[in-house]
Amino acid sequence: MTSRNYPFINTPTLRIWFLVVLGIIIIIMAVLYRDSIPRFLSTAGLVLPPVHQVPLRNYNGLLNKQQQQQQHTRTKPFQANVKKYSSHPEPHQVYWEKCYVYHPENFTAENRCCRMHDYTSSPLAFHTCIQKDLDVNNRDVKWMLVGDSHMRYLFSDLLTTISGPHLKFMLTKSERVWKDGSNINTTMSIRAKAQHEKIVAIDDHINFTLTFHWDHLLNRLPRMANEWLKNSTQTPSLIVFSGALHNIIQAQKLYITGGPKAAAQQYRQHLLQLRPSLVRLAASTRVVFKLVDHLWQTMLRKETQNAVHDGWNYALFNEVAVDVLSGTGVVIWNSTLPMSYLYALECIRSPHRRTLPSRHWNCPDTVHVGYILVSQYTNMVLNDYCNRFLGFGEEYCL
Ligand SMILES: *[C@@H]1O[C@H](CO)[C@@H](O)[C@H](O)[C@H]1NC(C)=O
Ligand SMILES: *[C@@H]1O[C@H](CO)[C@@H](O)[C@H](O)[C@H]1NC(C)=O
Ligand SMILES: *[C@@H]1O[C@H](CO)[C@@H](O)[C@H](O)[C@H]1NC(C)=O
Ligand SMILES: *[C@@H]1O[C@H](CO)[C@@H](O)[C@H](O)[C@H]1NC(C)=O
Ligand SMILES: *[C@@H]1O[C@H](CO)[C@@H](O)[C@H](O)[C@H]1NC(C)=O
Repeated sequence: MTSRNYPFINTPTLRIWFLVVLGIIIIIMAVLYRDSIPRFLSTAGLVLPPVHQVPLRNYNGLLNKQQQQQQHTRTKPFQANVKKYSSHPEPHQVYWEKCYVYHPENFTAENRCCRMHDYTSSPLAFHTCIQKDLDVNNRDVKWMLVGDSHMRYLFSDLLTTISGPHLKFMLTKSERVWKDGSNINTTMSIRAKAQHEKIVAIDDHINFTLTFHWDHLLNRLPRMANEWLKNSTQTPSLIVFSGALHNIIQAQKLYITGGPKAAAQQYRQHLLQLRPSLVRLAASTRVVFKLVDHLWQTMLRKETQNAVHDGWNYALFNEVAVDVLSGTGVVIWNSTLPMSYLYALECIRSPHRRTLPSRHWNCPDTVHVGYILVSQYTNMVLNDYCNRFLGFGEEYCL
């Protein structure tokens, strides 16, 4: 093709005008579609190494760009910028991300705001706690975990941690028989199962009930909340719930057609509908919302047409939850996020790392964190609930 076919472009002035107009059009397009650019680049294969797709938040200001790039060498812990143990901790600091130092060497989180008891090595302290609670509040203690498989993981670990001679549990749909909860092998078996059903555990000796409600989209929560609030003897003493993951999957179509923000908007509307129930629940009991962890799969996949593989999506949905739940009295649990981040990095390094039967490490499962983390999550829940009943020193977490 020769320029003779386009004589007007041959004029030097017109050629300059042409370039200027083209430039302006490109700038306008870039501004209009700025949200889609990273996605466009990643589909075009022009992406940064996969790990960098994760929303690397600036953990307590100490994780800068250079440190992000050095993540694989794991030399430095994420540090909380706090002195060790203030003498009067604020309530619920076990759930605050900024209270911890996160050790990459052993995947542990160390609370610097307040002292934590280790409940996981023996069920004795837990049993004392529930008995004291019963004496003080004069009603049976009921804990409810509501949500998806990540809540079931927490349930499984709690079951193993609190097991004793009087504990029994039942999968209410698939098995419908009480099983012996004093046998670690039996309680541990729950870890390997993927039931989408209610699981109940009861310790007759201390009148303690622990229930996992499968409610992966958080659709049934308002109805349950009504039931619980009808009769104060039915109100749980603790509710821990989580969402997001299946809501992300559910909003897949919207994610493609309208973009991540439209998908997150749908989640916002859903949480807004739950809000009145949550406000009422939080006024009468302790309600904790766990944010969605970093998962290995969100850090590996290049292809971002799939909403549930898009690491940015997780940050977005967490932001929405924090926003909608603020002012409701619901406690936000974000102290697990850096732990899950370190776990995911380790799995990227050693994809086959796996320890059975404990599943402390279970890297082949890319959509859950291993029990090396979950058992610390359990300990957080127990510290937040039980410390007040056990007469510990005043530096202990409240
Ligand atoms: C984990 O490592 C840190 C730093 O080396 C250490 O201070 C801490 O005691 C360790 N925690 C456990 C549970 O081993
Ligand atoms: C658990 O199972 C292992 C092997 O499967 C067995 O050696 C162990 O004795 C069992 N423990 C209990 C408490 O039943
Ligand atoms: C547990 O509940 C039963 C029946 O409701 C009651 O008789 C018993 O006193 C309770 N146990 C404790 C330790 O409160
Ligand atoms: C509340 O529940 C308790 C125990 O299930 C029951 O004994 C009591 O009658 C109920 N109270 C009302 C007002 O329904
Ligand atoms: C975590 O949640 C606490 C309150 O629950 C909040 O003060 C803190 O800013 C949150 N941290 C991050 C990093 O989101």
